[in-house]
Amino acid sequence: MNATQEQLNRLLSGATPSASELASLLKAQGKARDLIYTAADDLRRKTMGDAVYLRGIIEFSNVCKNNCWYCGIRCDNDNVARYRMATGEIVETAKNAKLWGCGTVVLQSGEDTYFTADILCGLLRRIKDETGLAVTLSVGVRTRGELAQMKAAGCDRYLLRFETTSNALFSAIHPDESFEHRVQCLTDLRDLGYQVGSGFMIGLPGSTLEMIAHDILFATRLKLDMIGCGPFLSHPDTPLAEKPLIEDRSVYYKTIALLRLLNPTAHIPATTAFDALEPDGRNLVLTRGANVFMPNVTPGKYRRLYQLYPNKPCVDEDGAACALCVRGRLASLGREIGAGPGHSVREP
Ligand code: 5AD
Ligand code: FES
Repeated sequence: MNATQEQLNRLLSGATPSASELASLLKAQGKARDLIYTAADDLRRKTMGDAVYLRGIIEFSNVCKNNCWYCGIRCDNDNVARYRMATGEIVETAKNAKLWGCGTVVLQSGEDTYFTADILCGLLRRIKDETGLAVTLSVGVRTRGELAQMKAAGCDRYLLRFETTSNALFSAIHPDESFEHRVQCLTDLRDLGYQVGSGFMIGLPGSTLEMIAHDILFATRLKLDMIGCGPFLSHPDTPLAEKPLIEDRSVYYKTIALLRLLNPTAHIPATTAFDALEPDGRNLVLTRGANVFMPNVTPGKYRRLYQLYPNKPCVDEDGAACALCVRGRLASLGREIGAGPGHSVREP
């Protein structure tokens, strides 16, 4: 048996690899690389099945008080017109998401102080009452008190990426935040009974394969219900303009595959940023470990205004178009749409 297959077998038997072992797998090329993809796809089929859960994402506000160096909607970017969707419009969008086959809506925004916990609670209650969908919030760092309030209002899940485990890199690119604070928020979410999603950007400027390996290990140690990662894509209106992609594009995919191998029962989405990398990026990730798809259900008129990174797909589409597109994509992969909310299947 070859060396890569032996390494993969160790992972499959539940062994925790060292960072340098993972980094060597991230370097794999040719047949060795394909073995990683196949092992991840086989494991995904065994643990999560062929159903792909649809989480409709509603980008309900692009107002943000923060200045993260990578992000296109950072507050200092004057080239974006800012918008906030009204509560009624968000609820209508959630109803559409349900019609289009989503079992979950993900409410995402910048760190917008207008949307206080009270306002978000009103919104959560209406969406739960009027659609019964599972609801995920992705609205940045909040206090434990606010998180408790939103859980009580019916929120099921929360997404908050840690972005990188390098403290130095985290501080350099997040002028308004600290790594400890984010991790504290993740701990609070878990304590409060949320299903927790987190993850990181792959290939931030200055990161190495060793650092990506540490990110993979950290995400694994958090025992997340959902792990969302995508390539870092340089946005022209940010301090990280013109930073290159990782030369070996397969590193992005191997990262997802290794996350699957280390987290057999986590939900892993084929994140939108993979489609910005290449047109069938999200399809490819679904065959390399992922089991979740997050169609954009945001009303078309807002989509151009929510470009965290360039080449974001679907900005000229509307929710119905994406819903149709997803069906075609899954059919071409021989996968079906998951019924119901697609809650966490992780042991509590
Ligand atoms: N490239 C890739 N991903 C990005 N995000 C924000 N900006 C970028 C970028 N330029 C990701 C972050 C954030 C999520 C909502 O979007 O990881 O947590
Ligand atoms: Fe939006 Fe394909 S998912 S057009």
